[in-house]
Amino acid sequence: MKMAVFSSRKWVVDSFNELNIKYKYEITYFEARLYNKTIPLTKGFDVVCVFVNDTIDEEIIKGLKENGVRQVALRCAGFNNVDIEAAQQHDMNVVRVPAYSPYAIAEHTLGLILSLNRKFHKAYTRVRDGNFALDGLLGFDLHGKTVGIIGTGKIGEIFINLVKGFGCNVIAYDKFPNEKLQKDGLKYVELQDIYKQSDVISLHCPLTYETFHMINEYAIAAMKTGVMIINTSRGPLIDTEAVIAGLKKGKVGYLGLDVYEEEEELFFEDHSESVIQDDKFVRLQTFPNVLITAHQAFFTKEATMNIAETTFENVKSFFNDGKSPNIVLPKEPSK
Ligand code: NAI
Repeated sequence: MKMAVFSSRKWVVDSFNELNIKYKYEITYFEARLYNKTIPLTKGFDVVCVFVNDTIDEEIIKGLKENGVRQVALRCAGFNNVDIEAAQQHDMNVVRVPAYSPYAIAEHTLGLILSLNRKFHKAYTRVRDGNFALDGLLGFDLHGKTVGIIGTGKIGEIFINLVKGFGCNVIAYDKFPNEKLQKDGLKYVELQDIYKQSDVISLHCPLTYETFHMINEYAIAAMKTGVMIINTSRGPLIDTEAVIAGLKKGKVGYLGLDVYEEEEELFFEDHSESVIQDDKFVRLQTFPNVLITAHQAFFTKEATMNIAETTFENVKSFFNDGKSPNIVLPKEPSK
């Protein structure tokens, strides 16, 4: 089994190599992303393994097919970067890792909230500089605040339990509310009520045509002044220009991002020696109340090993009997 792994980084190579002692696949790691210019690299491979910022559109799928590739193995949960209809049309098997550690993402979300609120990132550098003043570090009690959660799937559910532990009042919106959570007392409300009532809004729904730019100027206008918005789901859920306008007006009081709508050109690379050309991203970085991490919410030891294991199992089952438990089909809502 010949596997080409795109967007490879040290953690991918380490976790895959550790597990490959058991599976014995013939793996070639490419640091490059999979996009139209890197299709020639896939010649002679059975599987291409890709991540969140690789592009798998119709042109790529056709190219993969011509090169003899039979399976696209996503090593992530989201598949908004794959043209699933085209994959089915061209008989390309696409599999994903639906859950590797929802705890990792839920815990990172909480970390963003606490850091934005209590300003750990600023306090750390201040104390190291011998500056022990507290001015500018004032936070608020999370206890008693209303946290609005959009998307109550695997990650949303864990996050709900974390914030409940802080004594927050939790309200939620989901296109498909979870009956079990409802029975356990979770209060589902309309999206507009999430915007109106929440002190903190956290996004845990997939990126679809419906949710693209759901946090836009109208949504922000409906929110409380000083609201905290957290996005650890997918960048395009937020219209960056609208959120910048909201931050400038003081309507948005805090913004925590682990994902960004134009992240493909930035994240997972070291750009510290170059001039960043994305003006919207640079503008975001100028606000004192914005905290950005570079798509690292998933990044725990447990999650990386689970990603490797599910990916290898997905490949094994497809080439054993043509079936994969984690196949992505067009009817499934894009995540
Ligand atoms: P999930 O599929 O378990 O839950 C998603 C929830 O969103 C479901 O309850 C679904 O009914 C709901 N939903 C679907 N359409 C909706 C809509 N239009 N409005 C409101 N809710 C809607 O997914 P999971 O595992 O909880 O992941 C959530 C998202 O987190 C993923 O879609 C992915 O984009 C993101 N993610 C981010 C990672 C990171 O490292 N930052 C890592 C893994 C996932």
